[in-house]
Amino acid sequence: MRKAALYVFLILSVFFPHNTSVSAQVPSSGEEIFIQRNCSRCHTLGRGRFVGPDLLGVGEKYSRDDLIKWAQDPENIYEQRNKKPVNEGYPPMPPMNLSESEAREVADYLLDYAPPEDLLESGTISGQIKNVTKGKSQEGQNVVLVSYMGERQQKRYFAESDSLGRFSFSSLRWDRSYEIMLFHEGIQYVSAKMVFSPAQDQITVDLPVYDTTSSDENISLLSLNVIIYPDDEGSTVNVTSLYVFENSGDTVFTGRKQDSDTTTLVFSIPQEAYDVAFSDGTNPNELVRRGEKFYSQLPFLPGIKRVVLNYSLALSQVKGKFQIDCEYEVRNIAVFIKKTELGIRVKQPEVTADDIVIHNEAFLKYELSGFEPVSIDIVVSSTSLLNSNLGRYLHVIFFLIFVVLGTVYFFYRKNRSSSMN
Ligand code: HEC
Repeated sequence: MRKAALYVFLILSVFFPHNTSVSAQVPSSGEEIFIQRNCSRCHTLGRGRFVGPDLLGVGEKYSRDDLIKWAQDPENIYEQRNKKPVNEGYPPMPPMNLSESEAREVADYLLDYAPPEDLLESGTISGQIKNVTKGKSQEGQNVVLVSYMGERQQKRYFAESDSLGRFSFSSLRWDRSYEIMLFHEGIQYVSAKMVFSPAQDQITVDLPVYDTTSSDENISLLSLNVIIYPDDEGSTVNVTSLYVFENSGDTVFTGRKQDSDTTTLVFSIPQEAYDVAFSDGTNPNELVRRGEKFYSQLPFLPGIKRVVLNYSLALSQVKGKFQIDCEYEVRNIAVFIKKTELGIRVKQPEVTADDIVIHNEAFLKYELSGFEPVSIDIVVSSTSLLNSNLGRYLHVIFFLIFVVLGTVYFFYRKNRSSSMN
């Protein structure tokens, strides 16, 4: 169960996976199901109200069959009682989709559960802080534990790590969730929220911290995927770029000085771009736009970072062509263009397209490789523009011309024949 304490680390509220090798076990006992199928994220047993009601003694309220229904799909209960939610002051419970046998196990567990002696405040959260850059324990680190009741912050507890980097918080209430926060070299680290599960009074978290650097020598762009998608009217195109960066070092990259700002990552957008949306983690405040460039100021932890950049272009403004620029050397670039009458394509010497289908839509796929910082030319073929707009009316125009000519000819003949008479 130690693995349960593998924590996903957040930096400035961005999740950063520290270790993802959580083994997928098949839960067997009712208690294990209660924990692994997340019931314990919302319910306690005898430790008070949480997201959902305290389930201690629910056997007095519900039959075994009804408990099975709650565990499988509460909609059954809501239909049966014609009431949603059942308990005042709570939201409805979402369906947890347990199998029949899991639901039976967990119902029996709830029916049989006998609470231990009063343990309301006997929770302990402890752990060790390791400085990964230096490869040793982080001594004298201030650690803050924040307790939450639902989403509301309740209390802060403070500790300092010892010579082995260890810290510990004890006498914690079980009916709260907790988050660990600390600063190292100006970088804020926040853990995922933790809760005590029913039979547990110990949570262990090992927290990595990294020293910082302003050198970008370990930063590289592994791949860039661009999706170009015209809207139905063919008047605008949406461009989505997916960047996969890597920090291959063991330090946090805090950025280079760029004019007056310190920035970590740079992205180019066409000048005409509008509705620009950017996900570098989740913090839009950490981004600066200067003309045709976007700068991220978020620190970049060791590991992989995915950034999604999204914008729209009005075709009338770009006049049939635009450019996708990339500030980084990147070995693998793929450009996907939705096939439409606009005939949008990549115009680059010696680059060919493959026809592919994604979710029933036809795309052109271009794979470009071995590039220095690039600029990819995208053109909107004008002949197909003609097809799409004029083409629709061309037969009508021909028909009208035909009618006009026919009428003229008819009168001409008529006039001729009448003058001959
Ligand atoms: C996302 C939070 C959440 C999760 C996860 C969750 N529940 Fe609930 N549960 C609730 C809420 C909220 C209620 C109250 C809903 C209502 O009154 O209609 C509730 C109600 C119940 C009740 C009825 C309690 C009473 O006093 O009436 C039972 C029994 C129950 N849940 C069992 C489970 C089991 C078993 C699991 C895991 C398989 C589970 N719940 C997972 C939120 C959750």
